[in-house]
Amino acid sequence: MKFTDSPVIELQVGDSLLSLQQDNGSMHVGTTVWPCSLVLVKFAERWSPLTYSPSSSPQNPYSHLLDFRNKRAVELGAGCGAAGMGLYLLGLNNIVLTDIAPVMPALRRNIKKNKPVLKKALKTAQLYWANSEQISAQGPPFDIVIAADVVYLEETVRPLVETMEKLMGETGVVLLGYQLRSPEADRLFWEVCERVFEIKKVPHEDLQPDYAYEETDVYILRKK
Ligand SMILES: C[S@@+](CC[C@H](N)C(=O)[O-])C[C@H]1O[C@@H](n2cnc3c(N)ncnc32)[C@H](O)[C@@H]1O
Repeated sequence: MKFTDSPVIELQVGDSLLSLQQDNGSMHVGTTVWPCSLVLVKFAERWSPLTYSPSSSPQNPYSHLLDFRNKRAVELGAGCGAAGMGLYLLGLNNIVLTDIAPVMPALRRNIKKNKPVLKKALKTAQLYWANSEQISAQGPPFDIVIAADVVYLEETVRPLVETMEKLMGETGVVLLGYQLRSPEADRLFWEVCERVFEIKKVPHEDLQPDYAYEETDVYILRKK
């Protein structure tokens, strides 16, 4: 299911407006913007220490998680870059967005298009999951691994989780935007994750209400 066939998706993050160009005619899923990335960004925006207004609820349970100062991040399967660019606008300044070779032109094009809003060209790198050289080249450990809508093929589940584990530091987190795409991939993903991660699902009421779709979740994974 595609989010929308419109060639451009707009995403408001704080005072900034990201404009994401998708190519729905392409054979690569990464050239489409998927809802999980928008849900993840809007969740982070809602609770970001940069934008959080305590009047609605005085305690911010995510203040530490979303305090991005001095944190290094890497995004896996970034696609058009919605999640990485959105989180960058929420203070995640040190971030590299990665994907497979055929998706890199769409990723770079979107980063370039949004340069006036981002104020700098974000880093990108080719990273195929479980490719040891490409993983090492990013210079792990990272504080934050971002992944939105990356679980849909059973055969890529193990390489994906292995890559998350290798990239994140002992106290790092995975910020995961998740939607069930394939029952087989879903089953294997959570089976493997349960072995290596503490899994916390963000309650739906903590998502940004305009971006709280029934089928889409945000998870926070930490190493056991
Ligand atoms: C459904 S798209 C999600 C794109 C983007 N995160 C979003 O939410 O809009 C899945 C992404 O994972 C990437 N991907 C799939 N298999 C991969 C692999 N083995 N190594 C690296 N990236 C992969 C795809 O190229 C694609 O960009």
